[in-house]
Amino acid sequence: MTSSAYLKISQLVKRFGAVTAVDHVNLEIEPGEFLVLLGPSGCGKTTLLRCIAGLEHPDKGAISIGDTTVFSSDRGISLPPAKRRVDMVFQSYALWPHMNTYENIAFGLKLRKLPKREIKERVTQVLEDLGMAGLEQRFPFELSGGQQQRVALARLLANRPPVFLMDEPLSNLDARLRLDMRSELKRLHHDSGATTVYVTHDQTEALTMASRVVVMDTGVVQQIAPPEELYRSPANLFVAEFIGSPRVNLFRATPFSDETGKWLSTGDFKLPVSRLPEAEEIIAAIRPENISLHREPVPGGVEFRIYAVLPAGPEVFVHVVRGETTFVVRMPPGPELQMDQTVWVTVDERSVNYYDVETGDLVRRT
Ligand SMILES: Nc1ncnc2c1ncn2[C@@H]1O[C@H](COP(=O)(O)OP(=O)(O)OP(=O)(O)O)[C@@H](O)[C@H]1O
Ligand SMILES: [Mg+2]
Repeated sequence: MTSSAYLKISQLVKRFGAVTAVDHVNLEIEPGEFLVLLGPSGCGKTTLLRCIAGLEHPDKGAISIGDTTVFSSDRGISLPPAKRRVDMVFQSYALWPHMNTYENIAFGLKLRKLPKREIKERVTQVLEDLGMAGLEQRFPFELSGGQQQRVALARLLANRPPVFLMDEPLSNLDARLRLDMRSELKRLHHDSGATTVYVTHDQTEALTMASRVVVMDTGVVQQIAPPEELYRSPANLFVAEFIGSPRVNLFRATPFSDETGKWLSTGDFKLPVSRLPEAEEIIAAIRPENISLHREPVPGGVEFRIYAVLPAGPEVFVHVVRGETTFVVRMPPGPELQMDQTVWVTVDERSVNYYDVETGDLVRRT
């Protein structure tokens, strides 16, 4: 059982010349949390992780792990990596080329002068957990990319640091193995209770693994929330569009009311709503699964034309158009829908989010 640490990052800034890779980041990570840093390539995920590990020297801010301040620009503190009680698996898994699998994993444990028997137990156990038993004697050049990645992961797991830092540890595995390893890692995390900061640019991975997700863009934290909340109530348009596949449907609309009811109006259609957002114009966001298609007219239904039908096994994605507006609809496979067929669209109003046209921020409902 690994003891957990509590990680706190305050106002952290890291610049490379003109690029601000980490821009005033604040994070508090609870003991035992599985925190995922998610964002597009170049948004600063690796840099933030390296700052925590002590491999980058931040320009400003503070980092503490447990009761220890490991970095503080104000107080002139910067502990070396070895003194931070964290361990990192790198995006490019750096294995020792002249050591076999066993030695690569055992290396750190030997440095820490663990008894031989315990080293053997730990190495054997992690290799078994990761489905790598039998590969002890192979050198890195005799392993596939995916196997090398698992050795790097095994090294971290065998070391049992209080804080695990993982930078896209599954990126080199094929799709099926990646799924297996996600569940394996989740299980290992559950059993060890180690505080984990995990980097990925894969939103599905983030949503499936995280206790909370931190979405970053250009070094700036956009939202910190549990996966479900992130999906249901994205804090701004960047998060709304980044999370979810297929992408969220966005449309610009003017709220208005008349004697027939309350409406969201676009150039192409008007949707009936029960409550109006307080703004002259908003951007509405609706997930593909919160739109329904009907073959016959229904009350409040808006007439659309089917542009394309894309079956995908257990679900079907249907693209419907009206004027300039295209919606993507996710539905179970059912009665066949044809291209150019007329359908009536209704939306689950409770699941529509409204965003400020200027700032892109979520308009909170009153
Ligand atoms: N050593 C460096 N020197 C100069 N610029 C750097 C350095 N390391 C990172 N950067 C820049 O900092 C920004 C953040 O890079 P970082 O590697 O943290 O992104 P990332 O989110 O991990 O991306 P990816 O998903 O591609 O791994 C990028 O603009 C990158 O070019
Ligand atoms: Mg990276």
